[in-house]
Amino acid sequence: MLAPPRVFDLIDEIDSTNAEALRRIEAGDHGPGVVVGLSQTGGRGRRGRRWESPKGGLYFTYYATTGAPLRTLSLLGFVAALAVADVVCSAGAEAVSLKWPNDVLVNGAKLSGILLESSAMTGGGAWFALGIGINLAAAPQGLDQATAGLDRAMSPEEGAQRLMERLLYWSGRLEAEGFGPLREAWLTQAYGLGELVNAAAGAGRIEGAFVDLDADGALLLDTDTGRVRITAGEVFFPGRA
Ligand code: BTN
Repeated sequence: MLAPPRVFDLIDEIDSTNAEALRRIEAGDHGPGVVVGLSQTGGRGRRGRRWESPKGGLYFTYYATTGAPLRTLSLLGFVAALAVADVVCSAGAEAVSLKWPNDVLVNGAKLSGILLESSAMTGGGAWFALGIGINLAAAPQGLDQATAGLDRAMSPEEGAQRLMERLLYWSGRLEAEGFGPLREAWLTQAYGLGELVNAAAGAGRIEGAFVDLDADGALLLDTDTGRVRITAGEVFFPGRA
C-alpha cells in the first residue's frame, strides 16, 4: 500500500504534519509524499487530543491516495507500529512493546503514537495520511498517561529516513504475504497479552482477557459472556494501573 515517496519535505516548524498532508491532498497533490516537522505548534493526537511536539521529537506524515478499500487501511496502523518498534530498537531502546491498536511503549510508557486519517474520494479511491509521532528527545510531561522519551538517541532526520525504510519493508510484506506475518510480529511484542483489559468501545465498556489479535487486526477478548471482537477504541490494563 505504500510506495517510495516522490517528495520528502523537512519543515522546521509546522502546525501539524497531518494537517499539512490534508491541505496538500485537497490541493490536488495525491502523493505519495512525506512531511516531517522538526516541531509542531498544533500536533494532533487520537480522539481530539493534542500531541506535544517540541524540537527533538519526530513528527512524520506519509500521505497518498489508494484504490484499496477503506476498511483495509486500518492495517496501516500495524505497519506503522512495527516500523516504529524497529526504529526505536535500532536506537537502543529496550523493553519495547506494542499496545493495541497502535501505540509503541517503552517500559510500559508511551513513546510513540499513530494517527491514521482517511476518507473516500468522490470518483473512487481514498486518501490517507499516516501520522507518526516519536518522542526521540524528552518524554512529554503533565499528560494523563505515562510517557517515555529516547533522550536524543537518534536525530529526527535519521529517524525519518529509517522510519520510511521500515514502513516500506512492512508494507511490502503486507502486500506480498497478507496480514499473517505482521500479526505474528505484532503479537510477539504485544503489551499485556493474556491480561485483563478494559476496552472503551463506542459508548460502553467491555472487560475481558486479551487473548489474541484477529486476522483483520481486531482485538479478541474473552469475557464472561464469551469471545468479543473490539475493532476500534482504546484499551486500559487495570492490573498495570
Ligand atoms: C496518538 O494520540 O497516540 C496519536 C499521535 C499522533 C501524532 C502524530 S505527530 C505527526 C502527525 N501530525 C500530527 O498532528 N499528529 C501526528
